[in-house]
Amino acid sequence: MHSDAPIGVFDSGLGGLTVVRALREAFPEENILYLGDTARVPYGTRSAETVIRYARRAASELTQRGIKALVLACNTVSAVALEILEAELDIPVMGVVEPGAQAGVRAALLEAERTSGPPPRVGVVGTAGTIRSGAYPRAVSSLSTRLEVIAEPAPLLVPLVEEGWLSGTVPELAVERYLTPLIERGAGVIVLGCTHYPLLREVFERVAARLAGRPIPVVDSASATAEALQEWIRNGRLFPAHSKDVPGTLQLLVTDLPSGFQKVADLFLGSVAPAEQIDLSP
Ligand code: DGL
Repeated sequence: MHSDAPIGVFDSGLGGLTVVRALREAFPEENILYLGDTARVPYGTRSAETVIRYARRAASELTQRGIKALVLACNTVSAVALEILEAELDIPVMGVVEPGAQAGVRAALLEAERTSGPPPRVGVVGTAGTIRSGAYPRAVSSLSTRLEVIAEPAPLLVPLVEEGWLSGTVPELAVERYLTPLIERGAGVIVLGCTHYPLLREVFERVAARLAGRPIPVVDSASATAEALQEWIRNGRLFPAHSKDVPGTLQLLVTDLPSGFQKVADLFLGSVAPAEQIDLSP
């Protein structure tokens, strides 16, 4: 079976574009419908109840537009609303916490192999909501009992990314502030547990290496999410697009003025079709 209906991708803002990039690389033939709730970003500082309410509203908008699967390209939403949306929607729903945890576990076990020593601690940075939920330690311990997770909320980074402030002294100092306690406590792998943070990947890599005095692997959920979708196609849970030869489309929806979002989207994905502003108020 095949379907040309789009895959829906949802984030509070532009962080989910890091997942879109991995999906477009893995599935160039798939149509993607992206929704960034830019009028209400950040989600990471809000209560679980509020995030669940926003996520339900966004999911209903995307399902009404005929998506065939929903990727919650936001760790904060995945951490508190994945199971609820899975139960409520009649299409497959994927979160990014488990793929992110998988990437962290893989990197830590590779480090153990490389150094012929015990695996390092897995350091996770994410929004306050994600860290508070305990979703990462849970996901990592369900994958490996040998690994210890230490986690640190990094609340200033989402506003920086939404502003397009991706390099220079301010992001560097903020990342240093959040990584220092993790590196001091022995994190040997850093998981970017928020889909906004890969836009600051180079800063993370540079600061982590400086603090630790050696390169530290920095991983995120994007490519592991694409691999998980590949698995869904293999096991029949997701119907792929009809033709591998026709490039898929990318449609971008936002809930506030598109200009700032568009600038970062163009920078990160190459020039893309203009984002359309929609209203998600109930
Ligand atoms: N990009 C989102 C995440 O992965 C959340 C950013 C926010 O809205 O706080 O957690």
